[in-house]
Amino acid sequence: MAAAGSGSFQYGRLASKRLMMLVALLLVSCCLGHGFGDEDHVEVEGIGSSCMESERRALLAIKSDMYDPGDRFSSWTGKDCCGWRGVACDHTTGHVTKLDLRYHYTYHYTYDLWDLIYNEERIGVSKVNPSLQELKHLKHLDLSMNDFSGAPVPEMIASLVHLEYLNLSKAMFDGLIPPQFGNLSNLHYLDLQAWDYDLLHVDDLDWLPRIPSLKYLDMSSVNLSRATNWFYVINSISTLEVLHLKYADLPYVSSPLPPFNLTAIATLELSGNSNITSAMLRWLSNATSLEYLLLSRCGSPTIESVQIALGALSNLKGLDLSFNSLKGEILELLNNVSSRGLKQLDLSWNHLTGDVPGSLRDLEYLDLSGNSIVTLHILASLGNLTNLQHLDLQNNLISGEIPPTVGNFVQLKYLDLSGNSIVTLHILASLGNLTNLQHLDLQNNLISGEIPLT
Ligand SMILES: *[C@@H]1O[C@H](CO)[C@@H](O)[C@H](O)[C@H]1NC(C)=O
Ligand SMILES: *[C@@H]1O[C@H](CO)[C@@H](O)[C@H](O)[C@H]1NC(C)=O
Ligand SMILES: *[C@@H]1O[C@H](CO)[C@@H](O)[C@H](O)[C@H]1NC(C)=O
Ligand SMILES: *[C@@H]1O[C@H](CO)[C@@H](O)[C@H](O)[C@H]1NC(C)=O
Ligand SMILES: *[C@@H]1O[C@H](CO)[C@@H](O)[C@H](O)[C@H]1NC(C)=O
Ligand SMILES: *[C@@H]1O[C@H](CO)[C@@H](O)[C@H](O)[C@H]1NC(C)=O
Ligand SMILES: *[C@@H]1O[C@H](CO)[C@@H](O)[C@H](O)[C@H]1NC(C)=O
Ligand SMILES: *[C@@H]1O[C@H](CO)[C@@H](O)[C@H](O)[C@H]1NC(C)=O
Ligand SMILES: *[C@@H]1O[C@H](CO)[C@@H](O)[C@H](O)[C@H]1NC(C)=O
Repeated sequence: MAAAGSGSFQYGRLASKRLMMLVALLLVSCCLGHGFGDEDHVEVEGIGSSCMESERRALLAIKSDMYDPGDRFSSWTGKDCCGWRGVACDHTTGHVTKLDLRYHYTYHYTYDLWDLIYNEERIGVSKVNPSLQELKHLKHLDLSMNDFSGAPVPEMIASLVHLEYLNLSKAMFDGLIPPQFGNLSNLHYLDLQAWDYDLLHVDDLDWLPRIPSLKYLDMSSVNLSRATNWFYVINSISTLEVLHLKYADLPYVSSPLPPFNLTAIATLELSGNSNITSAMLRWLSNATSLEYLLLSRCGSPTIESVQIALGALSNLKGLDLSFNSLKGEILELLNNVSSRGLKQLDLSWNHLTGDVPGSLRDLEYLDLSGNSIVTLHILASLGNLTNLQHLDLQNNLISGEIPPTVGNFVQLKYLDLSGNSIVTLHILASLGNLTNLQHLDLQNNLISGEIPLT
């Protein structure tokens, strides 16, 4: 205890010594006198930019309505609000241009509300103080992950017309997303992801195209069931690079579909929408810039329509087709997937059989769990995939011997073979060379016998 005490005392002395030097430097630069009497200028260069008093007061009002477990706003003291944590100002005008009040949970939270409740980390309720609208020069506003406890989405945000980045993700707002957000014509990033289905909804999306250079849109878990023309609206925003609309209750779109117009799209997530049609998949084959395609739980697309889309998407790096009742051969499904570049492939919980093409040499993540794969030869056909780090084959129908090529998976960190019909522990001998393995699951097989000592 005593030692720790004297340590921090020393640190204190050191810090105050530095402060003395800083004061001395300021005095010198002041008295050597370039720019006499320009006290503001000295303040800007020496200690940090100053801050408008009216905006400082607005910030303090905003803070007074935010949940604070203790140290969240510890830097929010003194006159210089531009130096406060989460605040940034324009160097020339001095106006506050950025307000980042994202709540950071103390543990690494995973996906959804249920995890939060399960982990019993509940945070206190916050309110959006009306003073927010006084920060008229804001370009970046992040209120994500706070708990606004079912309050309506504040319409006044629509008056902050300089916003380029708006993030209200998982902030527990409730009700209608104000169509006035269409007034935010400078937005590049708009993240409105909801926690849960029945919280947020729209009446239509007709306001969205009024934002001419939108690059990033996330309306996952927002109920879009009334936006019957959603497909046409989205397709008209050709600047979109990232689009997340998972679990958005998307209405059915009848054919013929309009000409493909999303020429910049790189990430597309439509998982959890049962109305994704085969026609849409064929339409997607013109999305040649696409890198990540996430279509988990999208009903029962046909293998043929998936094939057609995949054949054209030569820049694909990640593909998620899990939980789709796809029936057939994996080789057939992936028949015309480009052999280069694909790193993440999730085909779990379908009815697929057979082998994976050994040509997908860049694969790092492969999830084939919950299918109908019967033989460990799958590992032989995967033998060339030397970049594989994550391989999940749980809950298939696998039995038999492990082929020696499994020793090629030198990068493998995660291997799950649980829930199969593997009978022999020799599997452990063949895994002996996998020195990077951190997770191995062999539960629920038919294994008996001695553990080999290798
Ligand atoms: C918005 O905030 C969430 C949660 O804080 C974050 O995961 C997401 O990446 C942010 N969106 C954008 C566009 O930065
Ligand atoms: C948004 O713009 C419309 C005109 O397009 C205007 O009537 C309305 O007052 C604006 N709303 C806000 C909140 O600025
Ligand atoms: C979405 O809203 C509609 C009413 O507009 C409702 O019928 C439907 O159940 C909602 N969807 C979900 C998933 O809650
Ligand atoms: C395609 O995008 C442009 C904007 O780049 C838009 O003007 C046009 O209306 C869109 N076409 C369709 C069919 O939506
Ligand atoms: C896809 O692109 C091809 C060739 O550029 C074009 O002929 C076809 O009409 C496009 N399809 C759609 C749905 O836009
Ligand atoms: C669209 O999806 C909803 C459920 O999300 C479903 O009730 C409806 O029948 C689907 N429509 C069509 C035409 O498949
Ligand atoms: C994809 O494979 C199918 C079936 O083998 C074939 O008919 C189709 O022409 C291929 N498409 C592309 C774009 O390569
Ligand atoms: C592995 O790569 C070699 C050489 O490129 C090739 O001849 C062989 O067919 C590949 N094996 C599989 C299973 O794809
Ligand atoms: C393990 O590596 C050694 C040396 O590289 C090799 O001789 C042996 O066959 C490998 N064993 C397996 C099971 O791959």
